[in-house]
Amino acid sequence: MKWAVVTGSSSGLGMAMTVHLLELGFSVAGGSRSGTEIEHENFYDLELDVADEESVVEFYETLKGLTKKIDVFIQNAGICEMNSLAESESEFFAQHLATNTLGAFHMLKGLEPFLIKNHTHIISVLSSAAKYAYPSMSAYNASKFGLKGLLESVQKEWKDMGVKFTPLYSGAIDTPLWDNLPKDFSRSRMLKLDDFLYVFDFVINAPDHLRIADLTFLHKEGFLE
Ligand SMILES: NC(=O)c1ccc[n+]([C@@H]2O[C@H](COP(=O)([O-])OP(=O)(O)OC[C@H]3O[C@@H](n4cnc5c(N)ncnc54)[C@H](OP(=O)(O)O)[C@@H]3O)[C@@H](O)[C@H]2O)c1
Repeated sequence: MKWAVVTGSSSGLGMAMTVHLLELGFSVAGGSRSGTEIEHENFYDLELDVADEESVVEFYETLKGLTKKIDVFIQNAGICEMNSLAESESEFFAQHLATNTLGAFHMLKGLEPFLIKNHTHIISVLSSAAKYAYPSMSAYNASKFGLKGLLESVQKEWKDMGVKFTPLYSGAIDTPLWDNLPKDFSRSRMLKLDDFLYVFDFVINAPDHLRIADLTFLHKEGFLE
């Protein structure tokens, strides 16, 4: 039985990937703060706050009791809010870094004993915002640009250890992430969950020796601004 770990499994892309992996026959340990409605005999709904190192340690301890290996690790948990620089308090900015950047660091460090030993495939959900700046998104942009740097450095550090890194740079996708943003973005110009799963399926089914080093995908009408 193949095992996957998905962070941010309670909503949007994380929930969709979790359901898809279960359909493919994986056992899945999902981590989030609020938990999910997914009910499946091979799904384990675990409490996880990626921003809190203690929580990541507890997650790892629970995981060790469930499985001896992780074949696929999906780094997906993230937050995205909008604010002009003038309206951004440092706590707002820090929360983005703590979740999207430091959270990914906590998870790589926390799961490292599995990842190297198992030659795990690490699929990281970044964003077009890891390469392309949007107005009033400085906190989100900084956190995702930082995540890109973190992953590229660790990928080079571990390149001879058999770990495979696949970073996904997606444009806008219609998920609950957009529900509370102050601007009314056009949902018809966003990709749908099925579009994302089309790319995810391609990535997950690639031969083991084939690494997709850079995958950017977006709606044909371009980036949303
Ligand atoms: N939707 C898009 O347009 C888009 C485009 C490119 C990239 N992305 C990226 O895709 C990822 C998923 O986004 P989404 O669109 O699916 O958003 P979403 O529906 O808001 O889901 C976000 C997920 O992240 C989890 N999460 C947030 N903070 C967390 C924390 N501290 N610890 C553990 N889990 C946490 C949430 O769970 P809890 O709240 O239960 O903890 C939730 O499951 C994010 O990294 C986002 O930046 C999204």
